[in-house]
Amino acid sequence: MKPLIVANWKCNPITQSEAKELFDSISKGIKDIENAETVICPPFIYLSLLKGLTLGAQDCYFEEKGAYTGEVSAAMLKDLGCQYIIVGHSERRKLFGEKNNDVNKKVLAVLDAGLIPILCVGETEQEREQEKTEEVLKAELEIGLIDVHDVSKVIVAYEPIWAIGTGNPCDIEEAQRMKGIIQKMVSKNIRILYGGSVNSENAEGYLKQAEFNGLLVGGASLKAKEFIKIVNRSLS
Ligand code: PGA
Repeated sequence: MKPLIVANWKCNPITQSEAKELFDSISKGIKDIENAETVICPPFIYLSLLKGLTLGAQDCYFEEKGAYTGEVSAAMLKDLGCQYIIVGHSERRKLFGEKNNDVNKKVLAVLDAGLIPILCVGETEQEREQEKTEEVLKAELEIGLIDVHDVSKVIVAYEPIWAIGTGNPCDIEEAQRMKGIIQKMVSKNIRILYGGSVNSENAEGYLKQAEFNGLLVGGASLKAKEFIKIVNRSLS
C-alpha cells in the first residue's frame, strides 16, 4: 500500500489567496508522484477553494445536522469532497476539552458518512515520564474505537504530544516500538501514521525503518518546498 502523507495546516494561513498559493505550489510539486497518497487538511473555509488533490478536514461534529451553532458535520464535509477527517487531535483534546468519548462519537460519525477517520493518539511529556504511555494509548484506542466493527477502515496517527510542534521528534526506534504496541492493542490490519515534528530529514526513517504507513505533518506542511521533499522521500 502507498504511504499516506497527510498535511495538517491547523489554523493557517490567514487569507484565501495564501491558501490557494500554498495548495497550488504543493500540487505542482507532487503532480507526477504516483507512489504516495497525499491528503491536504486545510481549515474548513478553504476546502471548497482547493481542487485537484485529496482533501481532508481537521475535525467534525458528531451529529449530522441540527441546532449546533458553529459546528460542521461529516456529511457536510463529504459533500465538499473530503475523503478523510482527523479526529481527536491533541490540540482538540487539550484546548477544546475533547474527551475519549467525544472522539469516539466523531469516529463513528465519520465512518457513518462513508469517510475515513484519522484517529490521533499520543502521550504528554509528563505521562511519558511517569511511564503511563501505554495506559494512555490503551484508553484512547479502546474508547475511541467503541462500536467500530471494522477497524481496518480507521487510520490511527501516533502523535506523541511532546513531539508536536517542538522540533523534538520521537526517535525512530521508540516510534517503531510504539507502532508495535498500537498494532497489538488494535489489530495488525490497522494503518498507523507517525506525527510530531516530521521534516524532510526524518520522514524516510519513520516510513522505511519504523515501517509506519504514513505521516501526519503539521508545521512542515505549510512550507511547500519542504512538504514536497517529504512526499518525495516517502516513496517506496
Ligand atoms: P508538527 O504537527 O508536524 O508541527 O509537529 C503535527 C501535528 O500536530 O499533527
